[in-house]
Amino acid sequence: MNETLKLIGVTDTQTDLFEGQYVVPEGMRYNSYLLIDKKTAVFDTVDGSFTNEWLGNVEKALDGKTPDYLVVLHLEPDHSASITAFMQKYPSATVVSSQKAFAMMKNYYGDEYENRRIVVSEGSALSLGSHEITFVAAPMVHWPEVMLAYETTEKLLFSADAFGKFGATCSVDDWACEARRYYFGIVGKYGAQVQSLLKKLADKPINAILPLHGPILTENLGYYVDLYDKWSAYKAENEGVTIAYTSVYGHTKQAAEKLAEELTAKGETVALHDLARGDMAEAVEDAFRYDRLVLATTTYNGDIFPFMRTFIDALTERNYQNRTIGFIENGSWASTAAKVMKGMFEKSKNITFTTANVKITSAVSQENLKEISALAEELQTR
Ligand code: FEO
Repeated sequence: MNETLKLIGVTDTQTDLFEGQYVVPEGMRYNSYLLIDKKTAVFDTVDGSFTNEWLGNVEKALDGKTPDYLVVLHLEPDHSASITAFMQKYPSATVVSSQKAFAMMKNYYGDEYENRRIVVSEGSALSLGSHEITFVAAPMVHWPEVMLAYETTEKLLFSADAFGKFGATCSVDDWACEARRYYFGIVGKYGAQVQSLLKKLADKPINAILPLHGPILTENLGYYVDLYDKWSAYKAENEGVTIAYTSVYGHTKQAAEKLAEELTAKGETVALHDLARGDMAEAVEDAFRYDRLVLATTTYNGDIFPFMRTFIDALTERNYQNRTIGFIENGSWASTAAKVMKGMFEKSKNITFTTANVKITSAVSQENLKEISALAEELQTR
């Protein structure tokens, strides 16, 4: 940060589940920024659990000045829940946001600030003095009202949820790990919209990306943009095999582990996930990260085991595509798991199914061991 730009966000180490579903063992950052010029602008507020702490940060950073603008780029409550308190504390401030965001603001907080607002849309400009802000519409990255703000003098991109990550750290070390889980969990369905945003940003020189979560990015920005391009185009980031399984009595698990062992021996990268016990979002992340996927589950109530259904739904609703998929099925009678799993991908684009699959009847047999070896062999050639 410098004399004119200050980070005034907060760290959340309390939440059990971010957005009601994602474990965040390393906590969460809700970033907020202050840009000081002839006019002074605050970019986004923070989660309602931290309103007072954040207002204290704002006051300290303002150092006696009065804020002119509150720029609201994203209205999801992790960023907007302190708007009311801010507007009460600073009655001369004007809210700058999109039309859709103002409508949401009224629904969430009972006020859309008709007499204290500037409505912006794609290409709108806001001058703070030597700093000129241009707004870039980013619908569905991650909600429909989202705008990004590009500051042309210092070449700063206020990127809303884009380029954010789970974790409270301000370090960029191992950024991709939790940024990828965050991306595929939260924005993964909207690859087309992210691609469209990246095209709009392509001709803008950027010195720093300032997201609403995670560290500010100032170096090697091509690395982050390239990852976002791959993720949003549904291209595999790395070669490797994700094996996701459920197992009631351990037999399907045994087959999944045997396959993992054989693939590892062949030099393949393998990510093995027990869908009932592990973090589902981590398994989803790996399914998108690697180019091949094996699904192993039991036939259950004429369908498949519930955790596997949830997992496949999580993939297909995020437009899972461009991958090779193999199956391990188990059934003590009337086995239907492989057929059900395959059917769940019928609308998915560019999926290749392996021909060598594994069909277990209750426990892993000698024949199954051969099938596992054949599946490992075929996966290696894909
Ligand atoms: Fe960080 Fe979509 O809210």
